[in-house]
Amino acid sequence: MKCLLLLLLLTFLLAHETGADDIIGGKESRPHSRPYMAFLEMKLGNEWDYCGGFLIRSDFVMTAAHCVGDPITVILGAHNIRKPEETWQILKVRHQFRHPEYNAERLLNDIMLLKLEKKANMTTAVGTLPLPSTFNSVLPENECLAAGWGRTGPKPPGSDTLQEVELTLMNPSDCKDFGYFDVRSQLCVGNPNLRKAVFRGDSGGPLVCSGVAQGIVSRGNNNTKPPSVFTRIAYYNFWINQILKAN
Ligand SMILES: *[C@@H]1O[C@H](CO)[C@@H](O)[C@H](O)[C@H]1NC(C)=O
Ligand SMILES: *[C@@H]1O[C@H](CO)[C@@H](O)[C@H](O)[C@H]1NC(C)=O
Repeated sequence: MKCLLLLLLLTFLLAHETGADDIIGGKESRPHSRPYMAFLEMKLGNEWDYCGGFLIRSDFVMTAAHCVGDPITVILGAHNIRKPEETWQILKVRHQFRHPEYNAERLLNDIMLLKLEKKANMTTAVGTLPLPSTFNSVLPENECLAAGWGRTGPKPPGSDTLQEVELTLMNPSDCKDFGYFDVRSQLCVGNPNLRKAVFRGDSGGPLVCSGVAQGIVSRGNNNTKPPSVFTRIAYYNFWINQILKAN
């Protein structure tokens, strides 16, 4: 079984109201308009799996701790992941910094930093995403953006091209069915009251609010309905800064 929990949410309008099967709220990203996005290929046993991630420094990628594998290869500057382009930068991971209190069973502290073997070149297709400052907080009803190459149906493979969707930040109480929801270290994301269908995207991808990375795709429901749980990045600022400074 795949241990990845893949989730991104797309909103569908009722087909009979629109007269078409338009997907509302989720779409293919304009190529290279999200230059911080990283595609992670991970070797686990004899299999390869994949996750999303995002560049936070020229030599550091952030992702989810449950993206398990060794080695991990990072592809930056990609849009269609099956169509190599000159914008691509393929880098090996030198060291994986999984959060020391990562709890795989409850998916708590689901955050990991990947030190790349060398610096990525900053280009129009490759750039970093800012992290939240310590006192910055995101509030329910904020609209944020998630992106990924995740599956668009129950079976692999994922989407060839990067997809993105706008998601609403919810109140913690909307995630009470998850059992282990921790308001300090997690975000509850995606309006459960709208008619929605789930788009499966890569774990480890960012939740971007006003141009800042506030969350990491962590955990979904097994009934494919929103909301889902994201790691709250600001809670980990001290740990993140320690590692970035020392490496
Ligand atoms: C960055 O650019 C230099 C010079 O063009 C090149 O040698 C190097 O391989 C590039 N780095 C990556 C990660 O692609
Ligand atoms: C997953 O599905 C099972 C069986 O339908 C259900 O009992 C359980 O509560 C579900 N878990 C979540 C997190 O939705």
